[in-house]
Amino acid sequence: MDSQFQIIPADQYTIYLGSVFNALNEFISSQYADRKIFILGDSNTLDHCLPVLDFNDVTSLKDAEVLEVEPGEESKSVEVLEVLWKSLIELEIDRKSLVINLGGGMVSDLGGFMAGTIKRGVDFINIPTTLLSMVDASVGGKVGVNLAGWKNQVGIFVHPKAVYVDPVFLETLPKRELIAGTAEVYKHALIYDADYWELVKYELGDVNETNWESILLRSITIKNEVVQSDFKEEGLRKILNFGHTIGHAFESWSHLKQKPLLHGEAVAAGMWCEALLSNKLGLLDDKSLQEILQLLENRFDLVSVNEQDISLLVALMYKDKKNEGSTLNFSLIQEIGKSVFDQVIPENTVVEAIQAYIDR
Ligand SMILES: NC(=O)c1ccc[n+]([C@@H]2O[C@H](COP(=O)([O-])OP(=O)(O)OC[C@H]3O[C@@H](n4cnc5c(N)ncnc54)[C@H](O)[C@@H]3O)[C@@H](O)[C@H]2O)c1
Repeated sequence: MDSQFQIIPADQYTIYLGSVFNALNEFISSQYADRKIFILGDSNTLDHCLPVLDFNDVTSLKDAEVLEVEPGEESKSVEVLEVLWKSLIELEIDRKSLVINLGGGMVSDLGGFMAGTIKRGVDFINIPTTLLSMVDASVGGKVGVNLAGWKNQVGIFVHPKAVYVDPVFLETLPKRELIAGTAEVYKHALIYDADYWELVKYELGDVNETNWESILLRSITIKNEVVQSDFKEEGLRKILNFGHTIGHAFESWSHLKQKPLLHGEAVAAGMWCEALLSNKLGLLDDKSLQEILQLLENRFDLVSVNEQDISLLVALMYKDKKNEGSTLNFSLIQEIGKSVFDQVIPENTVVEAIQAYIDR
């Protein structure tokens, strides 16, 4: 029966996890009866995930207008947003309408910004369909688009009215996307919860066998707790950036080299380097470091880089506005399950870590 779900209370909304379709249907029927409803998805999520809603009798959506964008990061743009805004106005959206973001992080970032700005903001719900968006992008209130090749440069903080997470969507997610999403799960364990690390070490060994509900519950709870304590990222929320300073540089570099990495793949390589940095700074002990590096090697096809790429990678890190002068700013781990932020590290130490990654 479609009634088994968990509730995770967030700031001004609720996250539902499990078999959520009855709850979703009831929420929309009770809160948005006779309102205009819009579903935003990309062509993959509309092909694979919209029929799942239909199959599970989410009848409150039967008259919804469907807005479709191309899959991929290119759709997270001002140009696509303008087309969407115009469509919404032509379809007579009003302040009481509801937007449903059905997709991965691209859709929830784009759709959250679209909903948060049209008519000065209408309600929206996230239904994440990738592992990454379930454990990360759909929760936390950051939405926005890319601008002229720079990631997430235009955006706002805005909460959804609810988030409905059903692992059923992972059944159609390509395996490369699924594995990339596990990087953020490992990150949650490393920065916040040593017991969770023990769980993910074996539970994610074969993603075809994973019990997703236990993983989703712990990861979403961690993300939510961190965000609730520091919504605008002035302090503790920065710990979520572990692996991301170098990871973002790997990601941007891969796009410049025309062999794009998925975000999680870049973060996995970033965590390798930043775990090493944590050890070099005397924070993380040798045994834990070896355990982390070994796991990342085993579970990810870590990207290859050359010595000639180091200067570009470092230059890309300086593009991050948090980094100034000749120092770079990191969130690192003190021990498995415990993190520190605002760690300023000299460039030569960062270069040494990337060199060690290349030489490994
Ligand atoms: N706002 C935040 O806090 C936050 C956090 C992390 C990442 N992000 C953003 O999230 C985006 C990446 O999100 P993502 O990794 O989910 O990628 P994505 O949304 O691009 O989805 C990845 C691919 O999977 C397809 N897909 C999605 N669900 C599917 C399903 N159930 N079955 C089959 N195919 C499916 C999509 O069409 C796409 O081709 C980036 O833009 C990143 O900046 C935002």
